[in-house]
Amino acid sequence: MIHSNTRSGYPISPSLSFRNVKEWDFVLTECARDKQGSLSYKLLQVKFICRTKLLTTLKRFFLLLTGALTLAACSAEKTAQADRATSIITAPPQVPLRPNPTYQTPPYASPSLRNPVSNLSSNFSPNAGVSFSSVRNNGNFIALTFDDGPHPRNTPRLLDMLRQRNIPATFYVIGKSVNLHPEITRRIVAEGHEIGNHTYNHPNLTKLSNASVRRELDTTREAIIRTTGVKPRTMRPPYGALRTSQRQMIHSEYGYPTILWDVDPLDWKRPGTAVVKSRILNGTKSGSIVLAHDLHSTTVDAMPTTLDALLAKGFRFVTVSQLLAMKGAPQQ
Ligand code: NI
Repeated sequence: MIHSNTRSGYPISPSLSFRNVKEWDFVLTECARDKQGSLSYKLLQVKFICRTKLLTTLKRFFLLLTGALTLAACSAEKTAQADRATSIITAPPQVPLRPNPTYQTPPYASPSLRNPVSNLSSNFSPNAGVSFSSVRNNGNFIALTFDDGPHPRNTPRLLDMLRQRNIPATFYVIGKSVNLHPEITRRIVAEGHEIGNHTYNHPNLTKLSNASVRRELDTTREAIIRTTGVKPRTMRPPYGALRTSQRQMIHSEYGYPTILWDVDPLDWKRPGTAVVKSRILNGTKSGSIVLAHDLHSTTVDAMPTTLDALLAKGFRFVTVSQLLAMKGAPQQ
């Protein structure tokens, strides 16, 4: 907070007089405020316009001397201010320590069951089929699918649960939501899950022209690629509604098999977490494609115990593409 005030043409004090001085200036510098708030000024500079060499030399000497004295005074003041500020920050808190005999360490939660790591191929054949609701296999492999996300709160919660159990899933995302929540979409891919095309606006595709169906799929595919860098390889029609001719068209033009399901807990009706869990557990068998919605908080609430129960029953989780790759492949 340097403030300069320059005056010209008259001496600092009437007692000072130099015969050869034609003109002289001085500069006052606001150096600090004292405790009462009044400003203290230091003489920063004195300028002489001199007539003789001797006085020019004297002027230089005087300038150097006053400058050095003023800077020393200012820096001393600033150091003192900094010391006061530091002492405020580093002062130890005066918190009385009291014993708390009622506190107990929380019980240790045992780790969840974890899905085994598998390096199964996800390269399914284009001839595997046009439409799937399950893929029979002897390895207890199932695919868990979540529709209508990503959702800003529920999807990250679900991703935490899946990561804790090393469970890969397949997310049929809505293109519009991908554009709204790109960071969550990227997290889905980064954590090893598959992303499928679930259209941009979630319409009933059976009521749309082929051009409109293509627009729904194109905009979603572009949003997914732009956001995550990966291409969706399968699609799921909203409401499971897609005419046979549309399935053929989408398969031949996009390479997308239409993915339906064989286990539907009707979780979108929000029947409660216990009902969602029991419907999934009762319906799931080897090769199942399980439908659920990460759009709904109650579905995500039901997941921890549902996932643990499925793991306890010996099911192994794979992505939809991995499940499709088992079609026609030697059974494990
Ligand atoms: Ni949907």
